[in-house]
Amino acid sequence: MSNTKITTTAPGKIILFGEHAVVYKRPALAVPVTQVNAICHIKPAPLDTGIVLIAPDLNEHYQLSELAANHPLGAVVHHVLNLLQLETEPDLRLTVSSTIPIARGLGSGAAISTALVKGLTDYFKHPMTTQNVSDVVFEIEKIHHGTPSGIDNTVVAFAQPIFFIREQPIERFTVGQPLTLVIADTGIKSPTYKVVGDLRQRWEKDKDYYENYFNQIGNLVLSARQAIETGDITTVGECMAKNQAILEEIGISHPTLNKLIEAALAAGALGAKLSGAGWGGNMIALVKANDAPQIAQTLQTAGAVNTIITTVH
Ligand code: PMV
Repeated sequence: MSNTKITTTAPGKIILFGEHAVVYKRPALAVPVTQVNAICHIKPAPLDTGIVLIAPDLNEHYQLSELAANHPLGAVVHHVLNLLQLETEPDLRLTVSSTIPIARGLGSGAAISTALVKGLTDYFKHPMTTQNVSDVVFEIEKIHHGTPSGIDNTVVAFAQPIFFIREQPIERFTVGQPLTLVIADTGIKSPTYKVVGDLRQRWEKDKDYYENYFNQIGNLVLSARQAIETGDITTVGECMAKNQAILEEIGISHPTLNKLIEAALAAGALGAKLSGAGWGGNMIALVKANDAPQIAQTLQTAGAVNTIITTVH
């Protein structure tokens, strides 16, 4: 067994285009957000103390053996220990913290799981491909989200811009001209499974209506990818507006998201939309690099509880 201390990290993420439709096998584009991350520290613990999980952000201190099987952190550790086929529970101290706000569409759950999986497999010198890490995190996401598309675990584990279609090999996309984005948090927690579950119920009742919008989103994603790759930022902004209009139409937005989107556009953003599950969480605004600080300020004045400026390369 290793005696070394291990530290691993995983970034947050945003979905640029295609949320929700991606659950129904349409393409989506997502990028890592490295300004926020999850961190996992692992070190050996005294003999026979088993695995102690510490989450300082939550003020929690758990003994692995006492956690329910579906506990978000415990489930990851159990899953990895099964993979490693260890006969007895090792004596370890795992500390997990994160600067990614929870349930706001920034991939906090996937990032914490990714940092933990990477940490444990590094600690036990069990090499894993990035795809394997992503697959393990996907299994954990299923416990919490029901029917995740797999986009969160993929973009967080690979930490690169991803063109994603459910159950298909991933593709990275290139960025012709850097995109400056202001991410603004409504402060409203919105668990993904609720929004996804609600939309599924509505889809069950009128599939043609929703499938038509999912097709439109899928086509927008293809146009947006081309515009991003060729550096046509004006078209990227237009695609954001069109994607947002459809998300509003199918009941995914929220008055606070709409207010922030309007404020960003009025302040000169080239496009703006919600990002992630909707009904709260974060919105993103595509801006000229020089305008970013002022638009971030405008969004805070309009009620955003936090803003992040990030550049997609
Ligand atoms: O985890 P969030 O809030 O970014 O939402 C994920 C995006 C959805 O398309 C709504 C769900 C999914 O599994 O892809």
